[in-house]
Amino acid sequence: MPTPKPLENYTSYNGLPQLAGLCTVEEAGKPGLSVEECVRRLKRFHYAFKRLHQILTARITAEPIYELKTGFAHHAYLCAEHVTALRTRIAEMREPPLGLEDVPHPALEAFFDEILAAPTTRELLGGVYSIAVMSLDLAIRDYVNATNPLTDAPSRRALRFARLELDDMLKWGKACDAGLDHGPSEPGWAKLLYVLQDLLDTAGGIDGAETVDSALQQKVLPRCYSATPYQYDPVPRRDERFTDPWNQGVNAESFLYNETFPARAKALMMLYKRLREIDVPEMMASIIAQTPGKPWGYYRDMSRQLWDEARHAMMGEVGFVALGVDWTKVKITFNWSYRLNTECTPMERHGVLYFIEQGLMPKTGKRHEFEVGQQSGLPLIATLQDFDWADEVLHSQIGRQWYVPEFGTLQKALAYGDQAWSKVLSNWATVKAQGLTNHENWWPAVYAQACAAEGVVPDPVVLAFDETYEGKRADLQRIAAE
Ligand SMILES: [Fe+2]
Ligand SMILES: [Fe+2]
Repeated sequence: MPTPKPLENYTSYNGLPQLAGLCTVEEAGKPGLSVEECVRRLKRFHYAFKRLHQILTARITAEPIYELKTGFAHHAYLCAEHVTALRTRIAEMREPPLGLEDVPHPALEAFFDEILAAPTTRELLGGVYSIAVMSLDLAIRDYVNATNPLTDAPSRRALRFARLELDDMLKWGKACDAGLDHGPSEPGWAKLLYVLQDLLDTAGGIDGAETVDSALQQKVLPRCYSATPYQYDPVPRRDERFTDPWNQGVNAESFLYNETFPARAKALMMLYKRLREIDVPEMMASIIAQTPGKPWGYYRDMSRQLWDEARHAMMGEVGFVALGVDWTKVKITFNWSYRLNTECTPMERHGVLYFIEQGLMPKTGKRHEFEVGQQSGLPLIATLQDFDWADEVLHSQIGRQWYVPEFGTLQKALAYGDQAWSKVLSNWATVKAQGLTNHENWWPAVYAQACAAEGVVPDPVVLAFDETYEGKRADLQRIAAE
């Protein structure tokens, strides 16, 4: 006589889903992982997301390719959110101290150090996406399958969201790899792959659930690129579509506040201002990379703002494309991120950011830009500016939470930012004198292109706009001649 199986034979009441739809009674009837084991593995996932966040952030500034720069900004933010969710969950399961800042295994630390220090973009992409993200996703899958779906429902919920986004990241990484797969193969990649695999084996996998033989445990950890500690590179780089990156030849603000200019032309200038914001992620990445020891909430919030600024740049790109303008004809300067990153401390950079953003909140700032968007008769521009304004409200709160308290009063915090800003404010003549740019006025060509796409004749006064950040061009030529 076969033994009866009570769990299998237990039927649903009137066919209704069992256990609030989590799983069946049969599935919940298997013991699953202990709380001790869950916490141990969740702490490993937390560490992996934290290191991925660190790596992706640190590589934003010097990565030249715009699509990768913005992609890293996006994924760093996603990782930061999963770090936050895992910290919350771990804190629900155990009393402090939680040891969330501890390194779970030295080989796991070396594994991420190696990826951080990968010298080329292809190796970085391979290390982050093909190896780290892939291994993390598989380790989370194993956890989800092994833990009890009823007792550990809150962890499974957090990990379900994490896997959704890890899957997006994996697809993106694969597509980038395919897109870049036309140069010579990376000589270092085979070696890095071998080292990463070796380190992961020594760590017992991302989750530490694999048995590690004693010979491997005794082995000296192999290090390839991280033998000397990684140094953050603060110098922003751009790809070949960003020509003339020192050019500050067009004063966008002077154009936007000129009451005689039409809103439709101003929309174009606002798109330039949006796309130019690609320098904010380049700069904010330097603050995050060079400000250790803050509470986790600081990194989460700063990464959110960094990602918003990358989105603002992409809004500019989308707007230009929608208006039939080749945005590569617009000169997108990196003067701001370059000088802040190389001449100011991380606190001064944060001060400059906060000071500038405070100036955006009054009536003349983001509200004005939104209203111009509405007046332009271009609904897309109004949408872009509407959300740009909303994001700024959040950024202002982030500044109030993490920057202002460093100074005690708002006045002192603003004065500090103002002072740092004046230090780097103008170098129009310097970069010209050094032969880095001629501050070419790109406006007439771009405006003419937009008019041609719209099928209208350019307004001659708008077309002739020729004002730089130091006044009229003629004045500057005179100053330069003196
Ligand atoms: Fe912005
Ligand atoms: Fe902002």
